[in-house]
Amino acid sequence: MAIKGILSLLAFGFSHQAAGWWILGCDKPVSIDRVDPIASPGKLSHHLHTVMGGNAFDWAMDFNTTQTANCTTCIVSKDLSNYWVPTVYFHDKNGSFVSVKQTGGANVYYQQRIDHTELEAGKSIQAFPKGFRMVAGDANARTWTDTREHKAIQFACLAPGESLPTFQGFPNRTCDSGLRLQVLFPSCWDGVNTDSDDHRSHVAYPSSIDNGFCPDTHPVRLMFLMYEVTWAVDDFNHLRTDGDQPFVLSNGDATGYSYHGDFLNGWDTDVLTNAINNTSCGDSTRGDIHLCEVFKPYLLTDGQQNQCKSVPRKTREPVNGTIAKLPGCNPVTAEGDDVPSC
Ligand SMILES: *[C@@H]1O[C@H](CO)[C@@H](O)[C@H](O)[C@H]1NC(C)=O
Ligand SMILES: *[C@@H]1O[C@H](CO)[C@@H](O)[C@H](O)[C@H]1NC(C)=O
Ligand SMILES: *[C@@H]1O[C@H](CO)[C@@H](O)[C@H](O)[C@H]1NC(C)=O
Ligand SMILES: *[C@@H]1O[C@H](CO)[C@@H](O)[C@H](O)[C@H]1NC(C)=O
Ligand SMILES: *[C@@H]1O[C@H](CO)[C@@H](O)[C@H](O)[C@H]1NC(C)=O
Ligand SMILES: *[C@@H]1O[C@H](CO)[C@@H](O)[C@H](O)[C@H]1NC(C)=O
Ligand SMILES: *[C@@H]1O[C@H](CO)[C@@H](O)[C@H](O)[C@H]1NC(C)=O
Repeated sequence: MAIKGILSLLAFGFSHQAAGWWILGCDKPVSIDRVDPIASPGKLSHHLHTVMGGNAFDWAMDFNTTQTANCTTCIVSKDLSNYWVPTVYFHDKNGSFVSVKQTGGANVYYQQRIDHTELEAGKSIQAFPKGFRMVAGDANARTWTDTREHKAIQFACLAPGESLPTFQGFPNRTCDSGLRLQVLFPSCWDGVNTDSDDHRSHVAYPSSIDNGFCPDTHPVRLMFLMYEVTWAVDDFNHLRTDGDQPFVLSNGDATGYSYHGDFLNGWDTDVLTNAINNTSCGDSTRGDIHLCEVFKPYLLTDGQQNQCKSVPRKTREPVNGTIAKLPGCNPVTAEGDDVPSC
């Protein structure tokens, strides 16, 4: 997908425009806890999240807080942002839940999507401003709706020898190489507000979600973010039959429609702006961040990312291995169910 976008830019003949893009790799989570400083600032979150990035992650935080991090589990030391998603569990027929491992950490795609008419008009992609945060997806969704917001949540069933289209929720089949959950974020910004009451209205999707035109209300282009987290659902193949769907999100959702992603910006603005503008981070590198000149002084090794100590947990509820119930009050819900208000 990344490559497709760049090729369409080239097709318009704007390859002379700086078009830095890269895949930001993150290792182990820096937190697995009922914490969400965007949706539930200062209190426990309704459900569990798996969080990547800087170790200043806390239940109430702003840009300055991100800058107090001593380390990050993502690859660029100048990026102290946090990236988080719900955690995935296997729901055994006997009622218990088993945490599903992440395979290979998480990848955050930073891509440039800008229309040629905008380039002709001298517009460019802006770095995330200090204090910027946003949410993609809806934790309360239990029904499929044909909207950009819903289509931005994708389930890629990885099965060797098969090329499957992405699913809109948990697929009812086995995925022998894991299940890659993708969150596509809005990349059009109102240019003014770094956040909004619903953490969504200050941004908007372009006309074709990952590309296309920005609405007049949100004319400023930001980097197009996509999270990819692969969950080792195949560890449970021996405990299921093909056709059933035994996985749930940490909010109890067995449809998957409510998967979501949160982004809280903690970038060094100069480094990010430079990388966006620098052709050495462009299409010839195919997103390989190691080839981007701007990032080279700041790249962390896998060992350094893994050494970043997780932040102390706020809750003592068990979250790992086999557990009797999902942390918080999150009974399992199916297609069309109301979300319990407990
Ligand atoms: C970072 O290190 C400093 C000095 O060692 C310490 O005071 C601070 O609490 C640390 N911050 C975090 C988020 O761990
Ligand atoms: C963040 O830090 C900057 C520079 O140290 C300071 O000027 C600003 O007031 C701080 N903002 C908040 C919200 O604390
Ligand atoms: C229930 O299933 C889990 C996960 O498959 C297993 O670890 C546990 O032993 C089972 N419990 C009982 C009582 O069978
Ligand atoms: C699996 O899902 C597909 C469509 O998503 C549906 O057509 C099929 O009936 C389902 N199979 C089972 C066994 O539920
Ligand atoms: C990046 O490029 C845009 C125009 O393409 C320009 O407005 C901006 O000042 C540049 N930023 C830096 C840091 O060079
Ligand atoms: C790209 O970044 C490198 C390293 O920071 C710098 O030396 C080079 O001048 C930059 N190129 C452009 C076109 O900005
Ligand atoms: C979760 O448990 C597994 C073994 O059951 C262990 O290998 C892993 O380190 C644990 N993870 C955390 C974050 O405690």
